[in-house]
Amino acid sequence: MYEQEKKMLAEAAIKQVKNGMILGLGTGSTTRSFIDALGEWVKAGGEVQGVATSNETVEQAKRLNIPLLSLEEATHIDLVIDGIDQIDPRFRVLKGGGGALFREKVVALMSREILYLADASKFVHHLTGPLPVEIDAFARPYVERYLRDKQLDVTLREHDGQPFVTDGGHLILDVDLERVQDVRHLAQELKSLTGVLETGYFERQPDHVLTVEQGKVRQVA
Ligand code: 5RP
Repeated sequence: MYEQEKKMLAEAAIKQVKNGMILGLGTGSTTRSFIDALGEWVKAGGEVQGVATSNETVEQAKRLNIPLLSLEEATHIDLVIDGIDQIDPRFRVLKGGGGALFREKVVALMSREILYLADASKFVHHLTGPLPVEIDAFARPYVERYLRDKQLDVTLREHDGQPFVTDGGHLILDVDLERVQDVRHLAQELKSLTGVLETGYFERQPDHVLTVEQGKVRQVA
């Protein structure tokens, strides 16, 4: 349903790319459209280097001959372009629907600027979640119990009937936010737990957010 919007967002995002940039490349279906467009741009002679946030993005970039740098090789990142799961009116963001939250957050934190591409379905009044929480597998019973003691519903993310494993080899717990008043507070609390690597609550405000309204791309931040 939102495929056309994703293509429009990808075309608009390409206009923000300049020769010589080091780009953070996100993960997910929206970013996939953008990377396809970036592949065309590179084919036409554009020069960029990318830092990928997932193995899936590495594979796509390689197929399209987009030069990649590891995070260590990158002297800096000019701009990260990524999709999101939810964004509220204060531009607070949930990510991690594709399971790449940890690497996405590291790359976003290192980037000079952040551009999120968000089709209309991503805008919400309140972040309703779920909130993805990436954990070490050994700590799962501890973290689950902690959350259930707080009367929060928790689901271990699965893929093809098996626990979903992130590129870093961790598990993801999806936390229902229905009973949560303050997502920021919960995310901070979870970060202090042993065994929690990261949450999908993205604190850093984006510099730019593009969406599609009434058939046109609009910059809302
Ligand atoms: C992956 C993510 C994605 O950016 C997010 O889930 C949005 O995905 P899509 O563009 O497919 O809607 O955070 O970890």
